[in-house]
Amino acid sequence: MSPLADSEPLIQLSAVSKSYGRDGVPVPALRGVDMEVQHGEFTAVMGPSGSGKSTLLHIVGLLDADYEGSYHLDGELTTGRSREELSLLRNRSIGFVFQQFHLLPQLSILENAALPALYSRTLAPAECEERARLRLEEVDLGHRLGHRPNELSSGQRQRAAIARALVNEPPLLLADEPTGALDSKTMREILELFAQLHANGATIVLITHDREVAAAAQRVVHFRDGQTLDGVA
Ligand SMILES: Nc1ncnc2c1ncn2[C@@H]1O[C@H](COP(=O)(O)OP(=O)(O)O)[C@@H](O)[C@H]1O
Ligand SMILES: [Mg+2]
Repeated sequence: MSPLADSEPLIQLSAVSKSYGRDGVPVPALRGVDMEVQHGEFTAVMGPSGSGKSTLLHIVGLLDADYEGSYHLDGELTTGRSREELSLLRNRSIGFVFQQFHLLPQLSILENAALPALYSRTLAPAECEERARLRLEEVDLGHRLGHRPNELSSGQRQRAAIARALVNEPPLLLADEPTGALDSKTMREILELFAQLHANGATIVLITHDREVAAAAQRVVHFRDGQTLDGVA
C-alpha cells in the first residue's frame, strides 16, 4: 500500500456500465456509474428492486469482472486483473454479508466464521479458529460456537455471518440487503451492530431498498435504473 493510500478513496468507480445477456437482447443493469467511497465511511446504496444494486455490489466485491469502465480499490486499478489476482485481493480486502446469510449448514458457526481465514492460506487452522472465536465473541455469540446455523435464530445467524465477514479484518465490508430476511426488532439489532463496526473504523457499503435501513448509514446514495440519481456519488 502506498503511503498516500489513506488520502485516496477506498472505492472509486468511473463510468461503470454492465449489461446482461450479451448474446440475446442485452439488459442494461448499470449505466455509467461514477461513485467514490472514502475510508471509514458508512454508505447505503438505496434503490428499488431491479435498479442494479446487486450488480454494483458484485463488481465492487470483485465477484464480477465483466463490465465496462474502471474500478480502483484503495488506489489500485482492479479492472483487467486475472481471476486469481482478484480472488486473492477479494479474500484479503472484502467481507460479505448477504440477505440469506449463506452459512454452510453442516458446519458449526465457529467453522463457518473461520472459512475466509482458512481460504487465505496464511495462518494455521488453529489460528484461523482462534480469530473466528474472537470475532464471534465480539458479536455476542461466544456461547454458541459449536452450534450449527439451524440451531440459531435468524439474528444470530446474521451475526455469525458478520463475524465471518470480519475474520480476515478486511478494510471493506459489503452487505446486500442484510436485514431483508429479519423481523423489524432483529433488523434494528443488526443495524446497531453495523453502526458499532462503523464507529470502530470499518468502511461499510450497505445495499437496501428500505428507507429505514438506509437511514442507519452516514450517507445515502440513491440509485435508479442503473445510475446514481445525483450524478457522482
Ligand atoms: N444474472 C442475470 N442475468 C440477466 N439479467 C440479470 C441478472 N442479474 C440481474 N439482472 C437484471 O439486471 C437488472 C439489475 O438487477 P440487480 O442488480 O439484481 O438489481 P437490484 O439488486 O437493485 O434488485 C435487472 O433488470 C435484473 O433483471
Ligand atoms: Mg439485489
